[in-house]
Amino acid sequence: MTPGSVRVRVPAKINLHLGVGEVRPDGFHELVTVFHAVDLYDKLTVANGKGLRVRTVGIAGAPADGDNLAGRAALLLAAHAGIPCDVRIEIVKTIPIAGGMAGGSADAAAALLGCAQLWNLELTRAELAGFAAELGSDVPFALTGGTAVGTGRGELIAPVLGKHPLHWVLAISDGGLSTPAVFAELDRLRAAGDVPRVGGVTALLAALVSGDPGLLASHLGNDMQAAAVSLQPHLRRVLFAGTQEGALASIVSGSGPTVAMLCRSAEHAAEVGINIAGLGICKSVRVVSGPAPGARIISDNEKS
Ligand code: C5P
Repeated sequence: MTPGSVRVRVPAKINLHLGVGEVRPDGFHELVTVFHAVDLYDKLTVANGKGLRVRTVGIAGAPADGDNLAGRAALLLAAHAGIPCDVRIEIVKTIPIAGGMAGGSADAAAALLGCAQLWNLELTRAELAGFAAELGSDVPFALTGGTAVGTGRGELIAPVLGKHPLHWVLAISDGGLSTPAVFAELDRLRAAGDVPRVGGVTALLAALVSGDPGLLASHLGNDMQAAAVSLQPHLRRVLFAGTQEGALASIVSGSGPTVAMLCRSAEHAAEVGINIAGLGICKSVRVVSGPAPGARIISDNEKS
């Protein structure tokens, strides 16, 4: 590691359960969700610089500098510490942008961790989680990783017991979806008629503890799926392709449009992944597993 720089790795998430409740007075929806971090990582280098610079490599279209959530994280921490925000952040991006996998939130979590280390701020995990919640509903989970229940607007995190490995195929779409637009579409659909709701989370939590992916498959659920499909109707085809090609279940990840397909094993996921890629119905396919650890500092001799 060059002096005055810190490297951080941070995972993407999918939601095994995403129950969307009513709109609160602050405009956010009350959520009960089960986050699950997967081993698809963004890597950030945070280094001393002059002023704030945020640069993304690997994927086009990410916002720069103070418009990037990672830049906002650095500004928030510098303001708290009462120091100038002199930092260069380089993001090597693998998590899709606007893909429903909390990529921007992950980068914000990594920037918090990296800047806290770079500036020798002695923050507790709870203090970091507080800053994370200020930045966005999904940011606290990106610090924690693993599998966890999220309540409130998603920012209140409680780890769950099941630590069994789960294997997934991710079908990543060409265009992204804006999270507020998907919430708004769900509100519109609900106002127009009865939209089925996912219900409670207890059966899914029991399935996670059992470690049986077949049982888990029958309890995956996402209230935002109908809204994501309404905005991008081709997702219906992608969801169907997952089960047609042998996955145990397919589900839209968060607000979409990434589709996560649950498989029995790593070998099974590799097989399903090849078949899905061969259909040409999405931009790219990734085979991943979870639960992955949350944001953490990596040393120079670590490859990942
Ligand atoms: O928290 P975050 O900034 O990621 O949220 C982005 C947008 O998604 C919010 O401005 C809101 O429109 C919507 N949202 C919501 N309810 C939540 C989380 C997000 O309506 N629980």
